[in-house]
Amino acid sequence: MNPSPHTLPGDAAQYAAAAGLDPARLPTHVAVIMDGNGRWAESRGLNRLTGHNQGYRTLKNIVMESQKLGLKCLTVYGFSTENWRRSEEEVNGLMRLMLRAMRSEIEELIQSHIRVRISGRIDSLPPDLQEEFARAEQRTAHFSGLTFNLAINYGGRAEVVDAVRLLTQQVKEGVLRAEEIDEQTIARCLYAPDLPDPDLLIRTSGELRLSNFLLWETAYSEIYVTPIYWPDFGPEQFVAALADYQRRKRRFGAVEELD
Ligand code: FPP
Repeated sequence: MNPSPHTLPGDAAQYAAAAGLDPARLPTHVAVIMDGNGRWAESRGLNRLTGHNQGYRTLKNIVMESQKLGLKCLTVYGFSTENWRRSEEEVNGLMRLMLRAMRSEIEELIQSHIRVRISGRIDSLPPDLQEEFARAEQRTAHFSGLTFNLAINYGGRAEVVDAVRLLTQQVKEGVLRAEEIDEQTIARCLYAPDLPDPDLLIRTSGELRLSNFLLWETAYSEIYVTPIYWPDFGPEQFVAALADYQRRKRRFGAVEELD
């Protein structure tokens, strides 16, 4: 049974003040594996899609709180390259939910000056969803507040494969020499090369694995796992993760803490 989150009314700013969060030392980029929608629903005798619907409400809340707290970048794992293995009903339900969510949230995202990015193998998604995502990216491209990066049909290994294909093409065309390939050239060929690596990776529902999420980019991310299922993850839990991050010493392989 999932522990109760004891969520109090209030938003992240209140919790941030109560937790003594230092606004100057917030992570620039937070990545989230939003896990536990299915178990949240099943533990209540509900169907899994009801859990995803509830997960969407949580996501909306966390995006808005991230913007209010002044985070620069939030990446969430919305659908993995492995999620196609789920039942047709669940996959179709998730596609419909993403379409509905994008259509109903886009105006508020624009009003809040949030830049939307999509990372993943987008061309395998239903055409109406591809169009909605492309429109959202175009309409928000000029905003410089929070970047909300949605990983859809995303796999960390697929991302590296796609980068290798791009690099191979460049070598074939003679614009790049094989000896010039280094970490920077690879990073430039990933899906979101303009975003910094995540400082903090949050995973809900207690599982201790990366599940093929941002394998390259999380090389030095701090990892925070909470047993709470994603639909129960609120501003209080989000601030707790940020506060935990602020207590970490980041050394990036060195002996002394580095900024
Ligand atoms: C993992 O929980 C969650 C997903 C695979 C989908 C995430 C989707 C949402 C949060 C809905 C809203 C998304 C967007 C982009 C609008 P799980 O189903 O694996 O849970 P389980 O491990 O308990 O079965």
